[in-house]
Amino acid sequence: MTYAYSYVKSPAVSKLLKSVLGEGLVVAEGDQHRVQRKILQPAFKLPSVKELYPLFWRKTKELARKLQDAAEDKNTVDVLDYNNRVTLDIVAAGGFGMDIGSLSNPKTPFYTEYMKGFLPSKHAQVYRLLALIFPEWILDTLPLKRNQELRGAVRAVGSRIREKVADLDEKSSLGGQSRNDIMDVVRRDGNEFDTDMLVNQCLTFLGAGHDTIAQSLNWAIYELSVNKNVQERLRQEVKTHVPEPVETSEPDADALACVDNMPYLAAVCNEIIRLHPPIHHLHRQAVHPVNLCGHELPKGSKFIISIGTMNRSPELWSTDPSTFDPDRWVADPNGGMKDRQAFLSFSQGPRSCIGERFARAEMAFIIAGLVQSFDIDFAGTGEDGQYDEVKLEYGTTTRFESGLFVRLKRLQ
Ligand code: HEM
Repeated sequence: MTYAYSYVKSPAVSKLLKSVLGEGLVVAEGDQHRVQRKILQPAFKLPSVKELYPLFWRKTKELARKLQDAAEDKNTVDVLDYNNRVTLDIVAAGGFGMDIGSLSNPKTPFYTEYMKGFLPSKHAQVYRLLALIFPEWILDTLPLKRNQELRGAVRAVGSRIREKVADLDEKSSLGGQSRNDIMDVVRRDGNEFDTDMLVNQCLTFLGAGHDTIAQSLNWAIYELSVNKNVQERLRQEVKTHVPEPVETSEPDADALACVDNMPYLAAVCNEIIRLHPPIHHLHRQAVHPVNLCGHELPKGSKFIISIGTMNRSPELWSTDPSTFDPDRWVADPNGGMKDRQAFLSFSQGPRSCIGERFARAEMAFIIAGLVQSFDIDFAGTGEDGQYDEVKLEYGTTTRFESGLFVRLKRLQ
């Protein structure tokens, strides 16, 4: 972490990320990275993220209403798609002021285009298998269905974002009202990005800030639905702090800051993110010869850091790190970490997740809203809810393979 700029993402990893995220912060290296990060960083600080609390709360309420409707229709509800939609709507609105509205309308073109390219399909799974055998540059030149899906989706989503950015630029040059999203804060701070760069950063926010939180929410619902004592204890804390999600009044950012003062909610969120990191590996390549723990390694050496291994290592954590135990964070604000670098879910140092505060706040609101609205019982995973355990697929993020079914009982 101290020598972050001595290591870069390998050309293959970088190319893969660029094809989805555009040429934004995730793939920038060296001085370009320093410059971009300096421009974006202030907009991700706590005061700016706090301005988004009303958005997080509004979307939480909308999610609760949609789940309520679904629970009235069916005995069990598969929450995966709801979590996909609420997190996509939030990152687009909070990142660059775009109202996708996929929660209210799953057929909205933005959502269907995005899902085609950004989330794994059967074609993507075939592609990943082929990628184990063939170098990526060969796959890139083949007319594979996956290549077509991905390029088509990135083009379609990119052009919608471009239209939005142009529209926002025009409104702001006409002295339009300022918004609270991340890109607006960047612009107010004297943004130095041109339109192409703005579009790339928006694509980056979508790619980096959607599926990561959606998967964390899936895990949160799963863990709370199988650990009913944790769910009930959390509900008791939430009840005394947070307004009812069905209330029609709109609390402001200050009123909603109560979410920052709930130790058990923070403990549950920390534990979900520690035990189930949505990004499982960091990939790096040395830009010059390096000495690592006394070993001389040549330029170009490749490293894979397993986030899951660090987060669950008995050598680095004091109480059994393989179990879901939010109390480790209640007993000790560092969760019993023996080494500060043991908790790697958001990475650390100059290349750590710039969206960490955004992600933590969004998760806290949605989890608080859900336990306040429903008693949640686990019903099964898989396409028809036929399995008792979670099956995962490993891409850039670790995802639920299919289906997370729960029984939802509305609480008054
Ligand atoms: C639970 C949610 C999230 C997790 C676990 C997570 C995790 C991570 C990790 C591990 C990295 C480092 C990747 C690497 O160096 O290879 C990263 C970087 C990044 N994340 Fe997140 N992320 C989350 C949510 C978000 C959100 C909501 C946003 C934006 C709105 C975001 C934007 C970014 C960006 C732009 C980077 C690149 C930072 C840089 O290289 O300077 N992330 N994230």
